[in-house]
Amino acid sequence: MARILVTDGMDKNAAEQLRKMGHELVEEHYEPEALKEQLKNFDATIIRSATKIRQEIIDAALETNKLKLIIRAGVGLDNIDVQYAMEHGIQVNNTPNASSSAVAELAIGHMFALSRYIYISNVTMRNGEWNKKAYKGIELAGKTLGLVGFGRIAKETAKKAKALGMNVIYTDIKGEQEGQDSYKYASMEELLKQSDFISLHIPFKKEIGAVISTKEFEMMKDGAYLVNCARGGVVDEAALLEALDSGKVSAAAIDVFEEEPTKNEKLYKHEKVSLTPHIGASTKEAQARIGEEIIEIVQNFFE
Ligand code: MLT
Repeated sequence: MARILVTDGMDKNAAEQLRKMGHELVEEHYEPEALKEQLKNFDATIIRSATKIRQEIIDAALETNKLKLIIRAGVGLDNIDVQYAMEHGIQVNNTPNASSSAVAELAIGHMFALSRYIYISNVTMRNGEWNKKAYKGIELAGKTLGLVGFGRIAKETAKKAKALGMNVIYTDIKGEQEGQDSYKYASMEELLKQSDFISLHIPFKKEIGAVISTKEFEMMKDGAYLVNCARGGVVDEAALLEALDSGKVSAAAIDVFEEEPTKNEKLYKHEKVSLTPHIGASTKEAQARIGEEIIEIVQNFFE
C-alpha cells in the first residue's frame, strides 16, 4: 500500500476512504525546501494549486526513486513540471471533470457582483456609506458574454449564462466546435470587440504568457467587464490596471493572480475590482467529486 503526502488539503471522506483502503496519508503543507526532503519518503503526493512541483523537487525525489505518482486535485497543471516528471517515470494526473460547475458558478457570481456593484457595496456600506445613486447597474440579460477558451468549464458557464438570457459567443484555439449551435464561434479579435462581458477559461502557458494585455484591452468594447477565474498569468495585471483607470474596462473580477497570495496592492485595493482568493473549485460538492476522482486514480495506479 502507498504512502501518500497530501499538501494542500483534500475532502475528508475521500481521505478516510484512502486510509480504509490501507494507504498511509500524511496531510501536511511544506515550503519548497522542506518538500524537497519530504517527498523522497512518499510513493505519491496529492496537491492543489499552492504547492509547486518543479524540476529541482523532482530531482530530489528521484534520489530515492520512491515517488511514482503526482495527483493534481484540480484542473490546472501549471504548478507541476509535468513533462519532466513523466520523462523520469513519475505519473501525473489531474481531476479535470470535477470542478466545472463550481468554477462556472463563481464566474457568473462575479458577473453579478460587477454588474450590480455588489462587491463594492459590501465595502462602502461597512464604512457607513449609503451610495444608492452611484450604484445604478446593468442587467446580464441581453448582454453578450465572450468566453475565451471553450473547454468543460467554459461550456458550463455558457449554459448558465444562456439560461440568464445572455448571448454567448466563444473563441478557442481548436476553432469552431461541433454540437455547440447555441453559441457562436468568433475569432479572438471579434470576441473582444463584441463582448460586454469577457470570461477567461484557458490554461496558463509560460511560453505564451499573458493572453490579455494592452493590445487586447484596446480591442475591447468601451466599458467591457473582465472575469478571470482561470489562471493569474493569462492577464497582464499592469495592463489591466491601466484599462481600469482609463475606464476602458468598467470593472474586473479576479479569482486568480500572477502571484498567489497576491501582493499587488494596486489591484486588490482597486475600487473597480471584485476579488476572491482562488476559490473557483472550493465548493463542498466539487471537492467531494475531486475526492472520488482521486480515489479512482490511486486505485488504478496502486492496485
Ligand atoms: C484548478 O485548477 O482546478 C484549481 O486551481 C484548483 C485549486 O483551487 O487548487
